[in-house]
Order: sequence, then structure tokens, then C-alpha cells
Amino acid sequence: MIVLSLFDGMSATQQALKELGVPVSLYYASEVDSYAIKITQKNFPNTIQLGDVCNVSIADHIDLIVAGSPCQDLSFAGKGKGLDGERSGLFFEAIRIIKEAKAINPNVKVLIENVKMKSEYMDAMSDALSEALGERVTPQLLNSGLVSAQNRQRLYWYNWETIEEPEDRGLVLKDILETTVDDKYLAGQKLLDNYVGGDQLNLAISLRLIQYTITIRKAQRSVLELMAMLLAT
Ligand SMILES: C[S@@+](CC[C@H](N)C(=O)[O-])C[C@H]1O[C@@H](n2cnc3c(N)ncnc32)[C@H](O)[C@@H]1O
Repeated sequence: MIVLSLFDGMSATQQALKELGVPVSLYYASEVDSYAIKITQKNFPNTIQLGDVCNVSIADHIDLIVAGSPCQDLSFAGKGKGLDGERSGLFFEAIRIIKEAKAINPNVKVLIENVKMKSEYMDAMSDALSEALGERVTPQLLNSGLVSAQNRQRLYWYNWETIEEPEDRGLVLKDILETTVDDKYLAGQKLLDNYVGGDQLNLAISLRLIQYTITIRKAQRSVLELMAMLLAT
């Protein structure tokens, strides 16, 4: 399968496909965050990085396009600039690219993810995507909390058979905490031996918090799991 991941982040899509055992012959990624790219290249060195989505154009066959465009202007937590916002407007670059890919492979599969948003923005995204794909596509609202311990309501647009909402696994934070953590993240005996009080305790607590941050990262796998489920259908 030849995959193009727009707004690839640290390539969670690639991890999902790997866990599903989907053979990927070429994986193109468009991402601009240098740290995210570094993580991707460490885990998946064969990734072909294309850089800024505005400079991506398609000349070859693509089987699957995945895109989770920036949500800041669409989110209820944002300033509400909507699809005219500089960041969330990048969605239309994804639409341009989908049209180019569809002209080469009419059967290209597309999976788009974004936050829960005003129906006005949601409809505008559905209209643009439907026009690009030549068929009506509307989003499905899924909560990652069904399969992980993180409440995360997200919209998923995809041009294949609608999936059934997964059963609630009833997971809570304690189910996903790691039981073993590398010593480098712990406060350490030296600090505890020399503890005299005051700010030192804050340091110890901060170090403990780092430990919890590491474990909470596991919770962020929830979106990955949903993506894996969607791609598995
Ligand atoms: C909402 S995040 C999605 C990340 C990833 N898809 C995930 O689910 O973890 C949006 C991503 O778009 C990237 N991005 C922002 N502007 C971009 C641009 N012009 N071209 C490519 N990627 C961009 C950001 O760096 C960020 O990683």
C-alpha cells in the first residue's frame, strides 16, 4: 500500500498500520515540526518527508491519504476563526491534494480526522471533501474513550463502509499506567537521602510528575487505536 499522510505529526498512522500488519511499500509524510519529524525518522527511517503541505503535489499513485489538519481555529477552545483561519485553512490544501490523487487513482481511500466543531464548519468540510471525492461523505463522531482511558471526541470522515461504534471497554487511568518506569525518571535515592525539606520536595514531586507524564502518554494511544480500527475495516 502506498500511503500519504498529511499533517503527519510523529507518524501515529504509520504505527497503526504496522500494528495492523498492513504492508506499506511507500510512506510519504507532510509535516513541518522538526521534533515530530525527528521522532518519525527514528522509528520509521524509510519515511519520505515532503515538508510543507502547501508545496505537496501528487504525480504518482496513492492508495490511502490520511489527514488530521490543524484544529486550533475550529475547536470550541479556539478563537473561532474557522476554516478562514491560517492554520485550519490548511484543510483546503488537503482537499487540493486529494483531488490530485483521485485524478491518478479514482479508488484512493481517504481518512480525515478533526475535533468536534460547530456544524457550520463541519458541513463546509463535508461539502469540500464530498466534492473532491465525487460522493457524499459525512463525519462519524467517535470517542476514543471507548477504547482507551482518554475522553476524546473526534470527527472522522472516510470514504468506505461505515464502521460500528466500538463497545466501551470501560478503561480508566489505572488500566493504562505503566508499572515499570526507567530509573532516570524517578527522584532517586540520593535526593531522598539528602532531603531537608522545602523546595527539594517540590523537585521530588516534579520528578514524580514526569513519571506520570510518561505514563499518561500511553493514554494518548487512544486516537491511534481508533485510527487502527478505522483502517482495519
Ligand atoms: C492536529 S496535528 C495532527 C498530528 C497527527 N496527524 C496526529 O494525529 O498525531 C496537526 C499537525 O499539522 C502539522 N502542520 C502544521 N502546518 C503544517 C504545514 N503547513 N504542512 C504540514 N504539516 C503542518 C503540525 O506540525 C501538526 O503536527
